[in-house]
This record gives sequence, structure tokens and C-alpha cells, in this order.
Amino acid sequence: MSQMDDWLVGSKTRELAERARRVMPGRQSNLRAAEEPPVFVVRGEGQRMWDVDGRELLDFALGMGPNIWGHGNREYLAAVHTQLDQIFNIAAGMLQTPNEVYLAEKIVEHVPCAEQVRFLTSGSEAVQLVIRLARAFTGRTHFVRFDGNYHGWIDNVLGGRSNPDLGAVPYAIESTEDPMHTEGRSASAFAESYKIPWNDIERLETLLNQHGERIALVIMEAAMTNGGCCLPRPGYLERVRELCTRHGVLLCIDEVITGFRMGLGGAQQHFGVTPDLSTFGKALAGGMALAAVAGRRDVLELLRTNRVVNAGTFNAAPASMAAAVATLTMLERDDGAAFRRIDAKQSALMEGIYDIARRHGHPVLVQGVRGVFCVHFTELSVAHAPSELARHADLSKARRFRQLLIQEGLYPGRGDRYFVSTVLSDAELDDALRRIDVALGAL
Ligand SMILES: Cc1ncc(COP(=O)(O)O)c(C=O)c1O
Repeated sequence: MSQMDDWLVGSKTRELAERARRVMPGRQSNLRAAEEPPVFVVRGEGQRMWDVDGRELLDFALGMGPNIWGHGNREYLAAVHTQLDQIFNIAAGMLQTPNEVYLAEKIVEHVPCAEQVRFLTSGSEAVQLVIRLARAFTGRTHFVRFDGNYHGWIDNVLGGRSNPDLGAVPYAIESTEDPMHTEGRSASAFAESYKIPWNDIERLETLLNQHGERIALVIMEAAMTNGGCCLPRPGYLERVRELCTRHGVLLCIDEVITGFRMGLGGAQQHFGVTPDLSTFGKALAGGMALAAVAGRRDVLELLRTNRVVNAGTFNAAPASMAAAVATLTMLERDDGAAFRRIDAKQSALMEGIYDIARRHGHPVLVQGVRGVFCVHFTELSVAHAPSELARHADLSKARRFRQLLIQEGLYPGRGDRYFVSTVLSDAELDDALRRIDVALGAL
């Protein structure tokens, strides 16, 4: 109880938290993050939410990315409803709906790497399918992933630290310091992948030169949205693309966060680098459970010919497909007006935070891509690689700031990320900056 007393939660919240403790092992998605006050949401409108005690909160987590239409968006919900009216209840399985074909066509139209598309339920699953496809396509065993990237909760991609010993084969090392560390992982989970720092082209080049013949896949986020919202160094992604092609390695850009949030063509269109495969999730259906693997026809063909199996009771679940059709239709409208709305509000929010922090004597770096950004307490600028940021950012200040924000009723996403919806209003923006001002003033 002492934790909850510290946070001054309301009486209904307290009661629900006590009932929850008896029947549930915590919240439905857990990382080893610091304990935060329970919130039971009963209503949402735009980027505001209300909890069971009637407390009003500003939500900059947006479900960790999916809710690009904010909460209670009438247009989105009505569009989903209209679509749902036409659906009789099939969990798709062996049968198909016209929506699947339409949505796959739309993804092929918009996403540079997409020649074919397979629908799944979660980003974690989509990543595992990509690994399996790449192994089958290349006949190789290993894959490469990067510090600060996240590709889901499954054993072989979750956490681990890259080995600082430059002479060692760069297998990830388990560390209890790692916020992604988990007990219960298979002992061999890290033995078929390498983990190296992101944004460091020499490390990738050396790895591919030494072990390229056994590497099937390089998987990365194009901007490190799970590790401080760092941007790729100029030329980095292009060189990654070249190296993968030269070594016969498939490149997957994981667009689970950036897809349909940075634009209809995702990060790959924005940065002008086309991978062989891509994973999508989160914003794809604007808040309903849907993921996709899109990519080269000759790779996805392995599914058609049954050389590679991917099964899933809820793959292309009709309700999620309806939500995705509504989402893409709304995103396409008026030549991408929804994205322009994000841009306008997000830059005002980022600049506002930067100015307020300076005024309170806290130098900050505010960086990100369309739809999501991070705030770091540091003098460094955007040009600094993630490793420098990790060394220089003041993490205890960040933790305290987060606590103060939550006390003010403003919820950033995990990893101190701020997700911006297409409907953030001027009033919500002003309110957010006011609460941030109070929190920074108290820091
Ligand atoms: C880049 C990236 N890939 C994959 C995943 C896993 O997706 P899911 O949580 O839907 O399994 C996430 C989730 O945050 C993600 O950010």
C-alpha cells in the first residue's frame, strides 16, 4: 500500500487495484520498469482520458503508439462501425474477406518495399515470421539486431546487451541491469543472433565481413523509436542497405512504431531506403490488434508454396481489418492532412518543452520523428549517436520529471516518449505545456 499512498490515488482506483492484485499478476504488459500508480480509464476524448475517480489525464502514451486518432474519435469509430456492419462473424482462418485484398493493395500502393503482404495479430509475431522467412530464403541461420531497438517480447529478440569486447563474436549478453532482462528465457535464445550498437556502420561492416555467410537477416528500426528516438546518421541507412545487398543478407526495417505514423510509406519512404521486408502493427489499425509483414514477392512467395508456415487463428481478424481500412482511408484523405496536423502540433509541443526547460535552467534535447519524440536531459544535440546519449543524459532527472508529470496528470509513454495523435487540440497542447511547466519548475 505504501507505493499507492505515495501517489495519492483516488478511492475507486485504490479499490480496483486491490481487487486486481488478487486476480491478475500486474498489468497486461510488463517490463521491468519502476512501479507507477494504477490508472483505470473509463473514458477518453482526443488526447484526454478520465479515470474511475473522475481524474482528468493527458495521454501522451496513446497505447504506446496505436491510437493515432486519439480517444473516442467519432469519425474513426463510425467508419469502423460501418465496416463491421458488413461483417458476419468469421475469425478469418481459412476463409478470406474482401477487406484483406483491399488493405493489402493499399499497403502495396503506399509502402516502397511492399510487393506482397501477410496479416498477423501482433508486432512480435510479425518479427518472428520475418526471421523465419529470411532463414528459409537464404538458407542461413543467424540474424543481426541492435542496441536500443525493440522487436517484441519473444526470447530471441528481447533485450540482452551488446558485447563491449570488440574482439568477441557479438552475441548479446544477459544482464540483470538490462530493463528487458527476463528469467525463463531459453538458454540458447541468443546463440543465433548478433547484437551490436546501432548507427555505427563500421561495427556492422566488420560483422558482415567476418560472419556474413551465416547471416540471413539484419533487422532494425530506421529511427530508434524504442531507444531515445535517435535519428540515423546521414548515410547510415543507405550504407546498411548496400552492405546487406553485397552480403546477400535480407534487410528488415521494423516499422511497428513508424508505419502509418511517420507517413503512409513509413520510415522507409521518409528516409528513402527500401528494405527487403518490413513489419507493421500499432497504428496500422488505429487502435485494434493487427500486424503485417510486407516485402519482396520472391520472399513472401515462400508462404504461398508452403515452404514456410505461418498460422494464426486471428490473422486478418475481420474487426481489425475493418479498423485498418478505416484508418488508411482517413490517412489518405485530403493528401495526408492528418499527418500535417500531427506536424503542426508536434513541433509546437517539442519547441514549447525545449523553451520551458531552458527557462527553468534544464538543458534538454528534444528529438524524434513524426508522431513520436523523446525528451532527454542533456546538453547534447541531435547529431549525437545513441551511445553518447546513453553516457551523457541525466537519467535520474528524467525519472523525477516523469514522476512529476504523472502527478500533474500527464502520461508520457514508456521510455519517456511522447506520442502525438492526429487530433491533439490547441487546448490540449496549451494544457500539456502548462503541466510540463509546473513539473519542470518543481524539478
Ligand atoms: C519496433 C517494434 N517492433 C515490434 C514490437 C512488438 O509489437 P507488439 O507489442 O505488437 O508485439 C514493438 C512494440 O512496441 C515495437 O515498438
